[in-house]
Amino acid sequence: MILEENISEYQTKFIPKIMLSLCWILAVFVSGAEVREINLPGCSYVDPQIWYHAISDEDFVLQCALPDRIDTHIYDNSVLKQHQVKWFWLEKDKESPKAIKKNSNPALQGNELWFKPVRDSASGMYICMIGEKIQCLKIFLEVQTKKAAKCSGYDSNVLYLLADNGNSITCPGTKCYSHMKKSDVKWYKDGRQIKRRKTRLGLKLRHNEIYLNPTYGEDAGIYVCDYTFYDNTTEWTMRTAVTVEVIAKNTIHPPNFLYPKGVVILEAELGKPLELECHVQFGYERGSPRRVTWKRNNKESINENMNEETRDYPKGLKGHTVLCVAKLEEVTERDLRSNFTCFAENLVGNATSVIQLKRKQRGFLLYVLCSAVSILFAFLLCTAFIYQHWIEIVLMYRSYLVQNETTGDGKEFDAFVSYAKLDSSESDSTLISEEQFALELLPDILENKCGYKLCILERDILPGGAYTDEVVTAIKRSRRAIIILSPAYVSGPSIFELQAAVNCALEDKKIKLVLIKFQAFQEPDTLPLVVKKALRILPVITWKSSISAPPNKKFWKYMHYHMPVKTTKMLGNCSLKEFFHRLFSLVYR
Ligand SMILES: *[C@@H]1O[C@H](CO)[C@@H](O)[C@H](O)[C@H]1NC(C)=O
Ligand SMILES: *[C@@H]1O[C@H](CO)[C@@H](O)[C@H](O)[C@H]1NC(C)=O
Repeated sequence: MILEENISEYQTKFIPKIMLSLCWILAVFVSGAEVREINLPGCSYVDPQIWYHAISDEDFVLQCALPDRIDTHIYDNSVLKQHQVKWFWLEKDKESPKAIKKNSNPALQGNELWFKPVRDSASGMYICMIGEKIQCLKIFLEVQTKKAAKCSGYDSNVLYLLADNGNSITCPGTKCYSHMKKSDVKWYKDGRQIKRRKTRLGLKLRHNEIYLNPTYGEDAGIYVCDYTFYDNTTEWTMRTAVTVEVIAKNTIHPPNFLYPKGVVILEAELGKPLELECHVQFGYERGSPRRVTWKRNNKESINENMNEETRDYPKGLKGHTVLCVAKLEEVTERDLRSNFTCFAENLVGNATSVIQLKRKQRGFLLYVLCSAVSILFAFLLCTAFIYQHWIEIVLMYRSYLVQNETTGDGKEFDAFVSYAKLDSSESDSTLISEEQFALELLPDILENKCGYKLCILERDILPGGAYTDEVVTAIKRSRRAIIILSPAYVSGPSIFELQAAVNCALEDKKIKLVLIKFQAFQEPDTLPLVVKKALRILPVITWKSSISAPPNKKFWKYMHYHMPVKTTKMLGNCSLKEFFHRLFSLVYR
């Protein structure tokens, strides 16, 4: 039961719907067929809305737009419009209209139909449809020859106006239908009506003409002029078009080279591709053949294909710039020997410029950079070396170049040696004692090896006078006072010798003190002020050797540095050989 009911409902509700759709499709099909017949739906009962007159062999344009738009625009070039508009043409005395295809004359463009030019045979009815909703426009066009339209003194439809000058544009159509009473002319430029505007004071509309003073480059374009006249019952629109080009005075100069100017030398790498560019400026010149080309050694030969590419950049009324590029696949030795000439020519004359190639120094910059870095590195190395071996350098310098400091200064000894005199029981057996150092090691090195003469009180001064007098005399007879500092020294009676030495040094500038820190010590508070100051200010050489350790070379180097300059054979033996040996072993390590 339920199933049956459903079926009957299906039949009553859905079948009529299907029928309706079929009818609709049929109607659409029929209406589609009707497009090819005269009776386009929605158009058939409408009379032609606009009646146009055109002059044969002139440019002409028709717009598909509703009448309210017609006043300010006679066409709209936008591509969007093109898809919305369909055009049909019903030839005179024919029954069925034909669809107008793209790329024909008349040409479809935006919402308009351009006749370039319009022929006698183009007369007839034009029907256009706008958009999806079927709305159409009927336009009647009557094309007449100039003779039939009674035209006299018809102007050219292309005008060349000189920029910056005063010019006028006359409506060509006003020269026709002289026997008719005409309305005023309406002017359109590029589809828009021309009206007086405050922004363009130089443009005036007077006596159906346009006056431009001055004329600008932007005034170029397609000007259309319309006027109407009545023929018994019909209002006709007479439409003609003028193409206006704005020009400048022809140049009086030959081409001007922007690059290269004169002779330019370019760096080129052998085997690498190279592009030779030539920029030339041309002045304004109407219809002139601009020519820019590359030549090798100023010869034009057919074999010599320079593989060039030329681009033209129009600069409006200022003329053109032309770029000509010659492409060398790879630079050869012959290219390096060639003169590449860029030749440019216009009606006035010609000009040339030359590019020569120069072999590129590969990695020149890298070379400079490397040298700079190595010089800097060498300088740093040198500085470090000098810093580390300053003493050796000074000693070498002294032994070669400085005069013997010791001759004729009235001194007997090179150095007075001052040390703490201890009981032998106090000395540590594993280490060298101060006494051993002062009495054995010091003389062994400084006297036997370096040739200095030391003054050791016990050894060199015959006892006789007071101890204090003996010490002072001995110091005064010496060039240096070597003080061997230790805890025993600073807290014992020997400190008097240091005090005496400081006083002597203050009196006699030739006496200098050499302090040796033999063992670490603490300064007792009881030390005389002069001694305290001397300990703080004077350079101290530290003795660091135990018996087992190798000879303290650094110590002896410093000792030697502080000792007087003495150029003797002995000194050479003592130091020079060793220093050279050390120096070279350091450098070539
Ligand atoms: C206009 O009307 C006159 C008579 O009134 C007639 O002689 C003439 O042929 C008509 N012109 C046109 C173009 O129809
Ligand atoms: C270039 O101009 C000079 C005169 O300025 C003329 O003698 C010469 O023949 C011209 N060259 C070419 C290739 O036209």
